[in-house]
Amino acid sequence: MHSIRFQFLAFISVIMLVLLILLNILPIASSRDLVFEEKRDSLSSQAAVIASSLSGLERLSQESITEVLRILDITGFSRMVVTDAEGTVLYDDGGRTGVTTELEDILTALSGKTVFRSLFADSAFSSAYAMPVSSQGSTRGAVYLTEYDTERARIILDIQSEIRVMSVTLVLIVLVVAVIIFNLLLRRMQELVRSMRIVAGGDYSHRLAVRGQDELAELGNEFNLLTQRLDETERQRRRFVSDASHELKTPLASIRLLADSIVQSENIDMDTAREFVTDIGNEAERLQRTTEKLLDLSRLDDGVQVLPEPVDVKQVSLDALVMLRPLAEEKQVKIRSELAEGCVVMANTDDMFHIIFNLTENAVKYNVPGGSVRLILKGDEEHIYLTVEDTGIGIPEEDRLNIFSRFYRVDKARSREAGGSGLGLSIVHDAVLAHGGTIAVGQNKPQGSRFIVSFPRPTSEETGI
Ligand SMILES: Nc1ncnc2c1ncn2[C@@H]1O[C@H](COP(=O)(O)OP(=O)(O)O)[C@@H](O)[C@H]1O
Ligand SMILES: [Mg+2]
Repeated sequence: MHSIRFQFLAFISVIMLVLLILLNILPIASSRDLVFEEKRDSLSSQAAVIASSLSGLERLSQESITEVLRILDITGFSRMVVTDAEGTVLYDDGGRTGVTTELEDILTALSGKTVFRSLFADSAFSSAYAMPVSSQGSTRGAVYLTEYDTERARIILDIQSEIRVMSVTLVLIVLVVAVIIFNLLLRRMQELVRSMRIVAGGDYSHRLAVRGQDELAELGNEFNLLTQRLDETERQRRRFVSDASHELKTPLASIRLLADSIVQSENIDMDTAREFVTDIGNEAERLQRTTEKLLDLSRLDDGVQVLPEPVDVKQVSLDALVMLRPLAEEKQVKIRSELAEGCVVMANTDDMFHIIFNLTENAVKYNVPGGSVRLILKGDEEHIYLTVEDTGIGIPEEDRLNIFSRFYRVDKARSREAGGSGLGLSIVHDAVLAHGGTIAVGQNKPQGSRFIVSFPRPTSEETGI
């Protein structure tokens, strides 16, 4: 559970450690190298001056060398040794050493090469420089200079300890601040996790208190949105289940009542019995219609789509109108249709039939005797439009938003009387959307309703025609 914290701490510690090491090594190393350079420069130039002065001497001896050095007056070293070509010491000022004189260096110098060594140890720079003294192409001896410098060393050591103190403090501060910030982030993440658990436990009304504006806040907001969606879906589901059970309960109750009355009437005459049984049959039929529609809806909900096929909307409209003719006659409603040719939509014939049938059925059902219904099909370059107009009772403005909801009826009694389930328009709505269309409802002049459905006109590639 705390592995993120562990990972983070390990990561930061490693980085800080590397930083610490680099900070403490690199500056010291490069300033030490600078001092080495400087030592080489100063010793080599001094040795060069001395060597060239000595090479002008006729004979190298203790006295002549002392004399030359007195005139040159060079003081930038700790000790000077001069030897002859065989390596015998001719001159040694016996200066303060701390640097050992290496015979090997002198021999190298006598072989014609210069030697430089410098060492930073024991709080001091110990440097040595050996150089041949030559004239007319032959080596006559060697100059050997050594230097022992504690001052530079101290400055560098001081800087080193300052850097050490500063970098350690800095690293500690960074670590502490990082841990604090990280813990704050972690706490907010834990709050999110806690909220997720609460919601997962079924409390969809729970909301996370989001603080700040950073990415975690964004995550929190998204989480809240998600929870809200869940909440809505869950509420819809519950309402749907309760509406559906209610819808099924009413006809079932009538059936039981009718059945009971038949059973309990002592000597019921045949006509009454037949009437009751007919009623039972009607209620059963209504139950059947409702369950069929519920199945249609759940199929649309699942989004289980058969591949869309080219559907000739005119043909489907004619089929639906044939089915509706008896109802229209019964209601004394006239149906007129204006159906353009060549209106093809990529959809599913059954769904298209449901759409046209339900809209036209409503237009007939919620009409007045002597009223009329108009079914218009037309298309332009990009769309196919299907309009169903009626001169009926109309839909009050405040109900228009709701009529596509499941089980919603403007006038419950009237709908039930007409055998309605309140599911027709929600099926229409879902089916239209499932096939990429749109549906709008408005008022018909001077009275009645108008539903307009539009679908995108498929390209000839899509229809394959
Ligand atoms: N053309 C219309 N004119 C007036 N009211 C309508 C029309 N179409 C639908 N309605 C109203 O919308 C409600 C929902 O319609 P619908 O979903 O088809 O259910 P149903 O027809 O089973 O009652 C209906 O009960 C009715 O009140
Ligand atoms: Mg209907």
